[in-house]
Amino acid sequence: MIQLKSLTLKSGVIQSPMAGCTDLAYRLISREHGMEFAFLEMVSAESLIRGNEGANEIMKTIPEDKLLGAQIVGCRPEAMGEAARKVEDLGYDLLDINFGCPVPKIAGQGAGSALLNRPKEAQAIFTAVLKAIKKIPVTVKMRLGVEDGSGAEAANIAKIAEDCGIAAVSVHGRTRVQGYSGNANYEAIRRVKDAVKIPVIGNGDIHSYEDARRMKEIAGVDAVMIGRGGLGNPWIFKEIERGFNGETPVEAPSFEEKKKVLLRHLELEIQHRGEHTAALHMRRIACWYFKNLPGSAQLRAAVNTSKGTAEIRKIIENFEPMKFGSDSFSG
Ligand SMILES: Cc1cc2nc3c(=O)[nH]c(=O)nc-3n(C[C@H](O)[C@H](O)[C@H](O)COP(=O)(O)O)c2cc1C
Repeated sequence: MIQLKSLTLKSGVIQSPMAGCTDLAYRLISREHGMEFAFLEMVSAESLIRGNEGANEIMKTIPEDKLLGAQIVGCRPEAMGEAARKVEDLGYDLLDINFGCPVPKIAGQGAGSALLNRPKEAQAIFTAVLKAIKKIPVTVKMRLGVEDGSGAEAANIAKIAEDCGIAAVSVHGRTRVQGYSGNANYEAIRRVKDAVKIPVIGNGDIHSYEDARRMKEIAGVDAVMIGRGGLGNPWIFKEIERGFNGETPVEAPSFEEKKKVLLRHLELEIQHRGEHTAALHMRRIACWYFKNLPGSAQLRAAVNTSKGTAEIRKIIENFEPMKFGSDSFSG
C-alpha cells in the first residue's frame, strides 16, 4: 500500500508513463491482469492547453481505466499551472510532472531532465502547479541527475518538491546523459529516499519480483514503478504483488496464453485506435510478447509487411516458435 495524500493505492506496483506504449489498450490489458494504477503517456503542457489533436488522443480514457495519472512536461510555470488545472478538471486521479525526459526536443527547451540541476525553475513550476490544483495529488518523476549519477541532484529536487507540497517522487536510477544505457543505480535512489519524508517510488530495470525485491532492499523505496518490464508482460504486476505479500508465485504464462492475450491486445487496439493505427502499433506490440523466442524476428517481419489487422490476427494465430520458415505466417 502507498498513500499519496488523499489517494490510497493498495498495490505497491505502479506502471510508469511511456510515450508510444502506455496507451488505452495497453492499460486495459494490464488492468485485466491485476494492474491497479497507470500513467497515460507524457503530454506537453503547451499542447494540452491548445487542445491539439495528439494531446487529446493521449488523454483518451474510459471509466474502467482507473486509477489513472496524467503526466505533463514543460518549462513555463504558467503553462504548467494551466495544464495541471485542465488535468484535474478532466477527472484524472493524479498529476505527475516530468523531470526525466532526456530527448533533445524536450530537454533542449529546458523541460524534463534539464530541470534536474535548475532548482529555482523547478520550484517555480512546483509552486505554479500546486496553486492550480485543488484536490488531486501531484508527484514528480525524475532521473538521478543530468550527469551526476550520485543521486545528489535528484535528492535536492526532491527536497524542494517536498517543501512545496508535492505528494511523492519517483526516481529512475539513471542520469540524463546515460539515456537507457548501463544498469539503474538503486544505491543512488537510496540517497533520494534518505533525503525526504514523502514517499519515494523506485524505477529502473524491474522485470521480475526478484528485481523489485532488490529495489526495495537496496533503495528502501515505498513502492516500485514498472517501465519496459510491463511491455508484453501484463502478468508482472501480480507476480510482484504476490511476492511482496509472501504468497506463492503463480506459474509463468504458457505460450498459448501469451498468444491469447496478444490477440486480445490487438482487439483493444482496433477498438480504441481504429484499424489503421492498430496495424501500425502491432509492429511493436507483437514483438513485446515473444521477445526471446526463436522465430520472433520472423514474426516481426511478417507483421511489418502485413496488409492490415485481419492478416495480423492470422499471423499471430499461426505463430509457432520453432518454425522458422515464412510459410508459417502466411495465414
Ligand atoms: C519508449 C519509452 C517511452 C518513455 N516515455 C516516458 C514518458 O512519457 N514519461 C516518463 O516519465 N518516462 C518515460 N519513459 C521512461 C520510463 O517511464 C522509465 O522511467 C524508464 O524506462 C526506466 O524504467 P525501466 O528500466 O523499467 O524501463 C519512457 C521510456 C521508454 C523506453
